Amino acid sequence: MPGTRAPRRPFSGRRVVLGVTGGIAAYKAVALARELTLAGAAVDVVLSQGALEFVRPLTFEALTGRPAHTSLYPPGDPLLHIRLARDADAVVVAPATANLLARAAAGMADDLLTATLLATEAPVVLCPAMNNRMYAHPATRSNLHRLQEIGYHVAGPAVGPLAWGEGEGPGRMLEPDEILAHAGRALEGRTPLAGRRVVVTAGPTREPIDAVRYVGNRSSGRMGYQVAAAAWRRGAEVLLVSGPSHLPAPVGVEVRKVESAEEMRAAVADALPTADVLVMAAAVADFRPSTPAEQKIKKESGGVPRIELEPTADVLRATRDARRAGSVIVGFALETADAVENGRRKLEGKGLDLLVVNDATEPGAGFEVETNRVVLLQAGQPDQALPLMSKAGVADQILDRVQGLLPAAEPAA
Ligand code: CTP
Repeated sequence: MPGTRAPRRPFSGRRVVLGVTGGIAAYKAVALARELTLAGAAVDVVLSQGALEFVRPLTFEALTGRPAHTSLYPPGDPLLHIRLARDADAVVVAPATANLLARAAAGMADDLLTATLLATEAPVVLCPAMNNRMYAHPATRSNLHRLQEIGYHVAGPAVGPLAWGEGEGPGRMLEPDEILAHAGRALEGRTPLAGRRVVVTAGPTREPIDAVRYVGNRSSGRMGYQVAAAAWRRGAEVLLVSGPSHLPAPVGVEVRKVESAEEMRAAVADALPTADVLVMAAAVADFRPSTPAEQKIKKESGGVPRIELEPTADVLRATRDARRAGSVIVGFALETADAVENGRRKLEGKGLDLLVVNDATEPGAGFEVETNRVVLLQAGQPDQALPLMSKAGVADQILDRVQGLLPAAEPAA
């Protein structure tokens, strides 16, 4: 299908006000304005007087293709703040200095940005950036507390190197790609997944042969990591149980790393009683060496070793009793022949609400690629073969189905 592999512009048609205040992290706001624009958003940049000491409106205008604003009273446009506030789907303030936080917490409206904050009903994301002592000050702490009470979302700060000569500490602004993820979550608004607890498994497992060798598979973890990121973006609280993978932890997602099928079973069993949704995207080994050697097997130790295998626990079946009543359980199946027929059997046999079937023989599907071509199988529903699309796109299709299955379930306690 044409267009399905085009770069995703998830914020297409959305308007974001990007407030920039006077901290050195303002240089990162430039990259953020570009990222938001590339994601498809129309970005209205509002700079405080302090921000103008660090960055210029022209820089943002060249990247967003839109005017950048600085004045509460621009000639001929006295209601600019009302218009910006009304048209915004989200307001992101990055960097948010201690001064901005204090003014916003007090409900002041003495410049364009604070007036816009007061006038908007859109979700607000504040990204604090300041020296660690300013961040630790009781006045800043109580301002942040108040802002969260108001319903603003505070993203960061991170711990890391501060401005030159300032050492390390909490106070460093999040990176543009992290803020982009927070903006994405704000733009989603309230979805049926908001506040739900979603557990996702991803990646391969490793079953030890000896102290250094293992039996594994080629799963990269991409599909599960995309599902975890998309579920968080939709407002869920997400735990990602991940086998070995080089992928970075998705923003906002709690990651529990495991190695073997047995460790994955234990982590899933532990998480299931409070989960509203389980998406089992991991490629769990079906067999493991029955007697792994404690030391490295040496060449001299007597010819070619014979490795005897035994079955691992099937995680989905073994943890069935730990499921919450009403939770939604999604499995994946990788097949090389009779994909849909085998899939229907797995759907029933493993007690699943939804099964995502990949045919590993299809080009662009399966392991180590960014795309996937899947068929969705659901009890009582016709098969749905999706076109070749990005794994992020597949994640969204899966979560749309999950949301449709959820209403019967109450959020986990
Ligand atoms: N799965 C699991 N525990 C295992 C193996 C698989 O929980 N030990 C899960 C996978 O995470 C996936 C689903 O079961 O969600 C189907 O996995 P798949 O490998 O396709 O099926 P198997 O049951 O292993 O059957 P086969 O390999 O014979 O096709």
